[in-house]
Amino acid sequence: MSEEIIVVEGNGTLAGEVHVSGAKNSALKLIAAALLGQGKSTIHNVPLISDIEIMSEVLRRLGATVERTDHALAVDTSKVDKWETPYELVSKMRASISVLGPLVGRFGRARVAMPGGCQIGARKIDMHLAGLTALGVEFSVDHGFLEATTPHGLHGTEVILDFPSVGATENLLMASVVAHGRTVIANAACEPEIVDLANMLNDMGAHVRGAGTSVIEVCGVSLASMHPCNHVTVGDRIEAGTFLAGGALTGGPLTVRSIDPAFLRVALMKLSAMGCDVETGDDWISVARTRPLRPTDIQTLPHPGFPTDLQAQFMLLASLADGMSVITENVFENRFMFASELKRMGADISIDGHHALVRGVSGLQGADVSSTDLRAGGALVLAGIVAEGETRVHKVVHIDRGYEDYAGKLATLGAQVRRVASNGPM
Ligand code: UD1
Repeated sequence: MSEEIIVVEGNGTLAGEVHVSGAKNSALKLIAAALLGQGKSTIHNVPLISDIEIMSEVLRRLGATVERTDHALAVDTSKVDKWETPYELVSKMRASISVLGPLVGRFGRARVAMPGGCQIGARKIDMHLAGLTALGVEFSVDHGFLEATTPHGLHGTEVILDFPSVGATENLLMASVVAHGRTVIANAACEPEIVDLANMLNDMGAHVRGAGTSVIEVCGVSLASMHPCNHVTVGDRIEAGTFLAGGALTGGPLTVRSIDPAFLRVALMKLSAMGCDVETGDDWISVARTRPLRPTDIQTLPHPGFPTDLQAQFMLLASLADGMSVITENVFENRFMFASELKRMGADISIDGHHALVRGVSGLQGADVSSTDLRAGGALVLAGIVAEGETRVHKVVHIDRGYEDYAGKLATLGAQVRRVASNGPM
């Protein structure tokens, strides 16, 4: 079967300026939130990536009209009359389950296929279910579907999450805005994408306070008082961090634009610790490096800690640093698949449980490698840019899930990257 691969010429450079797209992890949930305001909401700065197409299809199956004009997505939910999301879509993208909260908010019921296993760990949804149950949702399982009903309506309550799960916080937020009374979500996720979602919900008529902190308070309003809105998606901090890692790798100087530097504080501290010069402005970040890369220890944590979605990109940096780094993955189990691909390019990495010991090497060699997930794919292309010789990155579909025109943007920064059809195995 023919697939596209990304071919990267090594010993390359990355320098100049690049515009960061809207955040994937925000836009996906903003589209789901549009279900709560009957009528046409327009979401601007939506990235052109395949995950957005899947979420648009999820909404269409519910009866919505979704039309894209450039980076603006018009989502008309006035004719939504279904509350079922099939396995075919949930299995393609786990974030499809973020319609659960808004569907129970709008219809008092939902039928969503249970997400299956996932390459980056078990990714359970127990916290989504426990929180929604506390709000009055009753769940049953029927032929692989999760059936949600609200026989006594949705009522506000206090929910304390076991862990600040992004998805659980978002589902609870979207259900509680139309619950009767006051809801408090404690130990909530604090990611910038949660703030973006809360801002959109407030623009639609909701009363949410505290988003961006670990305690979110929601005063429920009636569904009838929720209305559509226009909203601009925040910049994608993970895309920004990926390009900055590329700048750090090659020396840059490289500037990312349309991103709030406050979203990336810990990652920028790590770039400085590794010997990079980092400068920031209101909506831009620059990185340059003239010294050898220094090793550093990194542990992934919920925001504002170091993001798990930048772990692979920084493992790549550590693999070329002058010494040993320890990278600890605390958010997902099994998120070190990238290491085995990078080892094929000459990196020296050993995995011990959720720790990776990365001994810096003097260079990487081009090879055939395979994207094991979205962020690993992004990092493998960067690895190819600094490697010696040619690298062929397979399973580009993972990259297309979350990076808009990745090869094109890297090419404008001077990299020799191109997409080609391949009939080869992998
Ligand atoms: C979101 C992001 C993903 C990012 C992650 C952590 C989207 C579409 N994806 O994923 O890119 O890497 O946040 O920043 O926004 N967990 C449970 N039970 C639950 C929910 C989660 O045990 O009910 C566990 C997960 O298995 C995982 C950890 O909690 O180990 C974090 O998951 P969560 O924050 O929910 O991530 P997602 O929302 O799935």
